[in-house]
Amino acid sequence: MDLITAALNFLVPPASLVMLAFAWPTLTFINACEWIYDTVFTSENMENKVVVITGASSGIGEQIAYEYAKRRVNLVLIARREHRLRGISENARRLGSRHVLIMAADVVKEDDCRRFINETNNYFGRVDHLVNTASLGHTFYFEEATDTSVFPILMDINFWGNVYPTYVALPYLRQTSGRIVVNASVENWLPLPRMSLYSAAKSALVNFYETLRFEVKDEVGITVATHGWIGTEMTRGKFMVEEGAEMQWKEEREVHVSGGPVEEFAKLIVSGACRGDPYVKYPSWYDVFFLYRVFAPKVLYWTLRFLLINGDERRTSFIGTGRPLLEMSPPRRLTGGPITFSQSLQQQQPQPQPQQLKLE
Ligand SMILES: NC(=O)c1ccc[n+]([C@@H]2O[C@H](COP(=O)([O-])OP(=O)(O)OC[C@H]3O[C@@H](n4cnc5c(N)ncnc54)[C@H](OP(=O)(O)O)[C@@H]3O)[C@@H](O)[C@H]2O)c1
Repeated sequence: MDLITAALNFLVPPASLVMLAFAWPTLTFINACEWIYDTVFTSENMENKVVVITGASSGIGEQIAYEYAKRRVNLVLIARREHRLRGISENARRLGSRHVLIMAADVVKEDDCRRFINETNNYFGRVDHLVNTASLGHTFYFEEATDTSVFPILMDINFWGNVYPTYVALPYLRQTSGRIVVNASVENWLPLPRMSLYSAAKSALVNFYETLRFEVKDEVGITVATHGWIGTEMTRGKFMVEEGAEMQWKEEREVHVSGGPVEEFAKLIVSGACRGDPYVKYPSWYDVFFLYRVFAPKVLYWTLRFLLINGDERRTSFIGTGRPLLEMSPPRRLTGGPITFSQSLQQQQPQPQPQQLKLE
């Protein structure tokens, strides 16, 4: 038995690679034909349909809202910062949305999710697309963490914050043959330092939705979007630090990032979802690293180590974002640079309480 396994280990990978190399042009041609056919003939007409977007108050979620708005959908925008949703809802209406509802809600709380999905259905009588974008990254090495109670918070937002809305929306999505759009990340398989828990949550997310895909069969579509570095609040340094506070790199806060790949990616994701694509990747050439991960993991490891670890000491300062995530002890100085807290955690405003659905 061991001999057979050893022989297969030796033969199957190169044989499969050779077969794939020959089949690749044909497969690419078939995919291209399918893509053209779906774009021309089967792309979903979204006019008057109902799209719920979590994490719509910034970044990719905000741009996705605008892309759907151009398709004249009715939008339901969810995030904790209601004041930001107000401006975004006005922009969305200008771009073509008939009705835009906004609601401050925390996707980590099942009751909040139940409330915004039920109220969406009560108001519009249907839910067609659920777009999960709510997320939080982090910027500490695993061993730097000073309080392990921050670990579940990251998993809560990045994993359960997708699962709860999906769970409560599924019965309604089945009625409309609707679609779930998931924002994962290339980090679900490509490791980056300082993001171990975020990457783990994204891996869990991808596996969860791949399994759900089988369970819901064709009754509800699932589009998994994986992307690399996109200019948003997250890439402008909004992260959880090792004491568990949600903070932002001061120097990066005001960096203007529009006009970059956020709009491009939002366009790709919405057209992919409307076409019924199971995956949207940006940029798609990242997939090549996956081959290295499987066939030459050491090459990938040393390349990433060379590129990412050596120069990643950050010399900058943090400010609070207004949302203490934990009641915690005073912040500890990080190695590699001074920390300036322009607002102490105690002075920050409390988290917004869930509010009534608002029609803008
Ligand atoms: N930007 C990138 O380079 C990149 C790369 C790979 C993957 N991604 C993924 O793309 C998605 C969007 O990322 P982004 O860059 O647009 O991030 P972002 O600008 O930081 O936006 C995150 C959104 O999530 C919301 N949110 C966070 N916690 C929440 C909670 N508990 N309840 C409700 N809403 C919550 C935030 O709104 P409030 O703070 O107002 O609640 C915000 O609207 C995420 O899933 C992220 O993991 C991004």
